[in-house]
Amino acid sequence: MTSTPIKDQAVVEPATTTPILKVTGLSVSFRTEDGRLSAVDQVDLQVADGEVLAVVGESGCGKSVTAMSLAGLLPRSATVEGSVQLDGVELIGADKRTLRSIRGREIAYIFQEPMTSLNPVFTVGYQIGEVLRVHNGLSRSAARKRSVELLKLVGIPSAERRVDDYPHQLSGGMRQRVMIAMAVACDPKVLIADEPTTALDVTIQAGILDVLRSLRERLGTSIVLITHDLGVVADIADRVAVMYAGRVVETAGVDELFARPQHPYTAGLLGASPAAGRHAGTHRLNEIPGLVPVLATQPDACTFADRCPRALDTCTTKQPQLTPGSHRVACWNPVSEQVEV
Ligand SMILES: Nc1ncnc2c1ncn2[C@@H]1O[C@H](COP(=O)(O)OP(=O)(O)O)[C@@H](O)[C@H]1O
Ligand code: SF4
Ligand SMILES: [Mg+2]
Repeated sequence: MTSTPIKDQAVVEPATTTPILKVTGLSVSFRTEDGRLSAVDQVDLQVADGEVLAVVGESGCGKSVTAMSLAGLLPRSATVEGSVQLDGVELIGADKRTLRSIRGREIAYIFQEPMTSLNPVFTVGYQIGEVLRVHNGLSRSAARKRSVELLKLVGIPSAERRVDDYPHQLSGGMRQRVMIAMAVACDPKVLIADEPTTALDVTIQAGILDVLRSLRERLGTSIVLITHDLGVVADIADRVAVMYAGRVVETAGVDELFARPQHPYTAGLLGASPAAGRHAGTHRLNEIPGLVPVLATQPDACTFADRCPRALDTCTTKQPQLTPGSHRVACWNPVSEQVEV
């Protein structure tokens, strides 16, 4: 991809390349028995070529719904509005043919629990090969050869032998590697990994992160990584988007965000302490007292107001919007102190 001149500093970030993935004003709501439930509201995200964007936030804040809408994986009960452009091609409202050619090929998704996505009755080699036969039209023998290469790429030892294993013969970490091999089989431009290490133990997590890092380096894949784990963020992300109650409340480069969190929610998550900072190892997000509110109940307020130690009167009557620039924050009374890390 070539860089193009930046026209609008307020919306283009980082200011170096045209984003491969550009999400603007993404809103998702679900039809439920109790009426329409808003899950994601006016989300803007950008991912540059070869960049790793981490999306963090508590459970239920809309990370998976955002990720699934990027890959067109939401159920029929969902209404999606806004724009998702992959390398300049609009995906929201695109016809089935366009979506079929993009899904799995240009934008691929890794789920949290590999066992639910792998078919227990076929060998892993067959399942990776299937992706290659369907999308790339490879012959059976070429697909098998490529499957072995992909298993090697994701660090599976004795790949020539393992290619004939069934999913239950592999450990959780190895199954997650197989999922990654399937996801990158067609050399996607963007890989979306939704909590890919959450179900795994710490040493296995580190191996999976190494795989993602090497894919970025060797194939130039852009990665949207959804995680609860600040150690993972510090380890691999270039930029971070913090979500709260269906909205992005802060986004910045990873070092900047850890050193100078501006949103009180981010500061709370980071614990504003060195222990949760850059060298966090495997620290999880801090617990913040209170519950994530249902988005639709607070259209004219900051959704964090009930839990925020810095709330002002304005916060309950007007919704803050993200500021422009490379460090964006949606808050009427942002934190200004630098955190020592
Ligand atoms: N299929 C669905 N139908 C109705 N509500 C849903 C559906 N999927 C997710 N939600 C709701 O959307 C919100 C965001 O969920 P999700 O994106 O899964 O959160 P996260 O991944 O951040 O934990 C939650 O309130 C969840 O209950
Ligand atoms: S807008 Fe107000 S309530 Fe919301 S995070 Fe900022 S200070 Fe807190
Ligand atoms: Mg989730």
